[in-house]
Amino acid sequence: MNKASSDKRVSTGISGLDSILGGGLTPDRIYLVEGAPGSGKTTMGLQFLLEGARRGEHTLYVTLSETASELRAVAASHGWSLDQVDIFELLELGVLDADGEQSILHPSEVELGETTRAVMDRITRFRPARVAFDSLSEMRLLAQNPLRYRRQIMALKHFFTTVNCTVLLLDDQTSEVGDLQLRSICHGVIELDQSIQEFGSQRRRLQVVKMRGIAYRGGYHDFNLDTGGITVFQRLVASDHRRDFAAKFITTGNEGMDRLLGGGLTPGTNTLLIGPAGAGKTTTAIQVGLSALQRGESVAYYLFDEGLGTLVSRSGALGLGFEEYIDGGQMMLSQIDPAELSPGEFSSKVRAAVESKHAKVVVIDSVNAYLHAMPGEKHLLLQMHELLTYLNQQGIITILILGQHGLIGEMRSDVDLSYLSDTIMLFRFFESGGELRTALSVVKSRTSAHEHAIREFRLTTQGMEVGEPLTDFEGVLTGIPTYRGDVPLLGARG
Ligand SMILES: Nc1ncnc2c1ncn2[C@@H]1O[C@H](COP(=O)(O)OP(=O)(O)O)[C@@H](O)[C@H]1O
Ligand SMILES: [Mg+2]
Repeated sequence: MNKASSDKRVSTGISGLDSILGGGLTPDRIYLVEGAPGSGKTTMGLQFLLEGARRGEHTLYVTLSETASELRAVAASHGWSLDQVDIFELLELGVLDADGEQSILHPSEVELGETTRAVMDRITRFRPARVAFDSLSEMRLLAQNPLRYRRQIMALKHFFTTVNCTVLLLDDQTSEVGDLQLRSICHGVIELDQSIQEFGSQRRRLQVVKMRGIAYRGGYHDFNLDTGGITVFQRLVASDHRRDFAAKFITTGNEGMDRLLGGGLTPGTNTLLIGPAGAGKTTTAIQVGLSALQRGESVAYYLFDEGLGTLVSRSGALGLGFEEYIDGGQMMLSQIDPAELSPGEFSSKVRAAVESKHAKVVVIDSVNAYLHAMPGEKHLLLQMHELLTYLNQQGIITILILGQHGLIGEMRSDVDLSYLSDTIMLFRFFESGGELRTALSVVKSRTSAHEHAIREFRLTTQGMEVGEPLTDFEGVLTGIPTYRGDVPLLGARG
């Protein structure tokens, strides 16, 4: 890569996009922004120009589809003023009739060469450093035949090489792969993509398809388009983020549970709590979080399943109140509607908690709810894998909760996360002496010599209680455990 060109970059006005591009666009080049109507091209064009205006540059918006006042209204809806942006609209070419009223011409009646010439004219006079051209689709319509259209595009391209100007050409994507010829004459290509979800909001993502001379981050990146514009969430790549940390056991806050785990939890690993509803998975996660809070560490808890209020009051009733830590910001408890949040945005939230707020424990409660509301499970599991790898490399203790269907008998999970997890704790209901009890076991650990015994697990008003190893259980993994041993169960011991 040319050193000089990598030093000087033009900010797109969208920080996430700038970082995907390793700093921004190479100045004085032509870029193509492709996307279906509504995908965010106009918004991106506006953000690009407003960034230039903020830096005191001259900027020009060429709008062939909307009028200047329509464009101003769109900008105003985002809270932006276009006072500093020069606007060229197609209607300026309309001829004046006898009454001095502007008549609106059918686009095809306007000589295309005239439009192109007028745009070039304006640029020569006004010398903008940035131009957004919205859109090529109208150029295509105006040209009426492909050959004339190509000629105009080439004329524009040659013109732009003679002026110092960074150009975004916006284009309604016409085919699956876009306009290949157009792509080849542009210095870079950005594709905007949107899909409608079965429920929840639409999912938007973008991809840099091509960018000459820049080591950009490829693949899809989620983005939001809300009032205030586009926010891009750069896809998380775990290997970019490594740090050193001590991998010594950390207590769960419960001695029996620590012993079951072979010493406690290890920073830089994740633990999957798996079992039926009501078995105590969330309470266990709260217990682990609370002991971290008491050590002075920060905790990020992402709640997908239940209400914040329920969790707070329920934990209080179990002697595991953590409210005092919420106010100080040490406990970051967020309730998330997965239908409204893309995986990319979720990852960036988690990253912010870890990198800016120094969270040492991260809880995802539950993974089912998170995965459920998102389409394309395969893609989603890959993202989850990347996030978990990232958290491990950051030395975080990650707790994942996975609910299973059924209370007793055969248990079923929606997803298999076992290969993603370092440690698996299994919760099971069992019956003994006419009472429903809970059995807890560690079925896998990559980092410790965990117990192979089963212990009884119980919630009381003083938090959780973990009993002595029970060696004579049968059938825990089949989901119909029976206890045939002599060790007294919890509560029965004096
Ligand atoms: N003020 C706003 N607040 C939130 N979302 C908006 C606002 N204005 C536009 N949008 C969203 O942006 C979309 C249009 O984006 P736009 O940049 O005009 O797309 P394109 O130029 O690719 O057709 C709309 O469909 C809407 O979802
Ligand atoms: Mg548009």
